Amino acid sequence: MRIILVGFGVVGQSLARILLQRRSELMRGYGFHPKVVAVVDKGGAALDTRGLDLEEMLSLKVREGTVAASREHGHPRLSALDVIESAEAEVVVEATPTNIENGEPGLSHIKTAFRTGKHVVTTNKGPLALALPALTELAEYNGVYLRFSGTVGAGTPILDLAKKCLLGDRIISIRGVLNGTTNYILTEMDEERITFQQALEEAQRLGYAEADPSMDVDGLDTACKLVIMANWIMGERVTLEDVEVEGIRNVTREALEEASRRDCTIRLIGFIDDHLKVAPTEISKDDPLAVKGVLNAVTFTSEFAGEETIIGRGAGGMATASAVLRDLLNIKETLSTRLMT
Ligand SMILES: NC(=O)c1ccc[n+]([C@@H]2O[C@H](COP(=O)([O-])OP(=O)(O)OC[C@H]3O[C@@H](n4cnc5c(N)ncnc54)[C@H](OP(=O)(O)O)[C@@H]3O)[C@@H](O)[C@H]2O)c1
Repeated sequence: MRIILVGFGVVGQSLARILLQRRSELMRGYGFHPKVVAVVDKGGAALDTRGLDLEEMLSLKVREGTVAASREHGHPRLSALDVIESAEAEVVVEATPTNIENGEPGLSHIKTAFRTGKHVVTTNKGPLALALPALTELAEYNGVYLRFSGTVGAGTPILDLAKKCLLGDRIISIRGVLNGTTNYILTEMDEERITFQQALEEAQRLGYAEADPSMDVDGLDTACKLVIMANWIMGERVTLEDVEVEGIRNVTREALEEASRRDCTIRLIGFIDDHLKVAPTEISKDDPLAVKGVLNAVTFTSEFAGEETIIGRGAGGMATASAVLRDLLNIKETLSTRLMT
C-alpha cells in the first residue's frame, strides 16, 4: 500500500515510528506492506516512489525542521495539494491541525484525495465536523474509503466498539466524556478544591491544555466528536451547527462542592439522543462516566445489549497513530474482500 503522509507533527511522526517498529509483524501477521511514498509538512515535501526511509525523515525533521530539506528527495516548494494530485498512491493520511472555521487545509486535502481516487485516513476533526455528510457522499461517489478512528478517543476504539462489536444491535443513545483537558480541569477543581482558572493554569503547565484553550473548555472539541459519532454510528446527517454547546468556564468550585454533598460530581458530557448537546452535567460518583484526569469514557445504550461503557486515554501521539494503523489495515482488508467478491 502506497501512502502519502500529510502533516508530520506529533501524530505523523508517531505513525512513522510505529511503521518502523512493527514492519516485520505487519508483514507476517497481516500481509501488510506499507510504503510511504511522500511526506509533507509546512516546509514542503519529500518524495520517493520506491518508499521513503522513515528513519531519515524523522531525523531530518528534528535536525532541519522540515522533510523538504532531504538532499535526494526534498521539494521545498511542493504543497500538499500538488503532492496529492500528482503522486501515485492508494491512501492519503491527513494529520494537519484542526480548524473548525473552514476546515482548511485538511478539507481541501481530503477532497483532492477523493477526486484523484485515493482513500483517506484522517485524525483531523475539523473537516469532518463541518462537512462529514458531504465528504461521505463524495467518497462514495469516487469509490474510495474515508476512515477516522483517531478523531474520537485517539487510540481507544470508541467508534469501532459501536460499529463493529455492537453490529446488528440498534444504538439508541450515547453519552460521553470526550475531552481529556476539561475532564482534568473538573477533576482537579473537585479534588483539590481550586477554581476553574487555577485548574486551567495547572493543565497548561502540564501540557494538557493549549495556550488558547477555547476548543476544549468551550466544549467545541466535544461537539466535533459528537458530530462524528452521530454520523458514523447513528447514521445521522449532522454538522457542528446542529450541536447545542455549553463549555465549563462557568462551573464553580461551589457547584462542585454542592454536587459532592449529594455524592455527585460535574463532568462535561456530550449527549446524542433526539438532539446533540454538550453541557457540564451533574452525575453520580458511581456513574461509569465519572472518570478522573485526562481519561475519556463513552456509554452506549443499545436496544438489546443495554448499556456498555468504554474507557481509555483520549489523546497522545502513539495512541492516535495506532488508530491510523487500524484504519489502514481496515482499508487493506476491505479492499481484499472487495477483490474476492
Ligand atoms: N496529538 C494528539 O494526541 C491528537 C489526538 C487526536 C487527534 N489529533 C489531531 O490530529 C491532527 C494532527 O495532530 P498533531 O498533534 O500531529 O498536530 P501537530 O503536531 O501540530 O502537527 C501538524 C502537522 O501538520 C503540518 N501542516 C500544517 N499545515 C500544513 C499544510 N498546509 N500542508 C502540509 N502540512 C501542514 C505541520 O507542519 P510543520 O511540522 O512544518 O509545522 C505539522 O507537521 C490534528 O488535527 C489534531 O487535532 C491529535
